Amino acid sequence: VIDATSLPDIVESFAQGYLLVDRDGKVVALASRALELLGTTERAAAGRHISKVIRLSGVETAVLEGPDSVLQRCLSTGAEFNGPISGLRAETPDGPRFLSLQLRRMGWGGALVLVADASAVREVLDGHDALVSITSHELKTPLTAIKAMSELLLAYELGADERREMIGDIYKQAERLEMLIKEILDASQLDSGRAQVTLQDIFLSDAIDEAVDDLETQVSGRKLTIKLDPELPRVKADPAKLRQILVNLLSNALKYSPDSSAVLVQATPYREWVRVSIKDHGIGIRKEDRERLFKKFQRIPDPSNRKTAGTGLGLYIVKGLVELHGGEVEVTSTHGKGSTFAFTIPSAEPARRVAGAVAAGGRR
Ligand SMILES: Nc1ncnc2c1ncn2[C@@H]1O[C@H](COP(=O)(O)OP(=O)(O)OP(=O)(O)O)[C@@H](O)[C@H]1O
Ligand SMILES: [Mg+2]
Repeated sequence: VIDATSLPDIVESFAQGYLLVDRDGKVVALASRALELLGTTERAAAGRHISKVIRLSGVETAVLEGPDSVLQRCLSTGAEFNGPISGLRAETPDGPRFLSLQLRRMGWGGALVLVADASAVREVLDGHDALVSITSHELKTPLTAIKAMSELLLAYELGADERREMIGDIYKQAERLEMLIKEILDASQLDSGRAQVTLQDIFLSDAIDEAVDDLETQVSGRKLTIKLDPELPRVKADPAKLRQILVNLLSNALKYSPDSSAVLVQATPYREWVRVSIKDHGIGIRKEDRERLFKKFQRIPDPSNRKTAGTGLGLYIVKGLVELHGGEVEVTSTHGKGSTFAFTIPSAEPARRVAGAVAAGGRR
């Protein structure tokens, strides 16, 4: 027989709360952590049936309420209950809360009800759901287009021009697909803390050239200006990751601005850093939206960007990768006028002075 009075000390030390109920399911004791989780007071809870203290809703009411409830079965047969790790939804005075519940019969006939906050688990699971549903939707769009166009090419004898155009479209969609898959992998690497940088002393101009190459289709026909400070030192960066940062920011600048508008990439030395900025004259971002855009899956439901596809992972990846290098990202923007995204990356050497002949050589 377990002495119920010795339980509080033991159980109070767990991160979860607990309640004790008697044979009838009425609360006879409870720990302060449980009160916190349930948003109730000892006075309000004591002596009441547990289903009135932990107010589950929907089908889940059957866990605690009624003669056939899981609780009743536990009390009469000793059957243990371990609720789903993602929790059961309970209504509390502070709003709905996801609680994971466990039921154990006690030697004296009552039961121990363990209550834990499942919101952290929930967040992870929701994040996973979102990852799967958003990304699979985004992946399907280019794939459907590729499939449809290949089918047309196979089924009909098209003229040379039409064929070329269609193959061009297929290529573009395949590029989009490739980029999406890369984004998903990058984001999941950052999420799990597996992302690592291999630092090298490199020329920013090389990384920019490569990023522009990657975005060839998006860049073609656009006015893109690159202005690098003549004294720009090399940077200490992971070449592939720096390229990825630039690809994401450049692609946004091109994507969220009219085709006729210009995009400017600039870089200047700033103390022991190089500061790179990408400026566009596009749709801009309202102040209240700026912070959240660096979180996963955040996109602004702007009517003018409804047609541009995206997962909302780009800036999340940019922020993660810049921070892996020890740098920072910032955004300044005027809604309707344009945005500037800037980041810092460590420089590999002191800023070069133009005075000497060395600096005149420029890149190499
Ligand atoms: N230069 C910009 N000008 C205006 N809005 C921008 C700009 N860059 C980003 N945004 C806004 O921030 C959102 C998030 O950008 P992010 O790059 O993370 O995702 P995305 O471009 O929607 O998709 P993808 O994952 O394909 O990059 C965009 O959907 C857009 O609403
Ligand atoms: Mg983007």
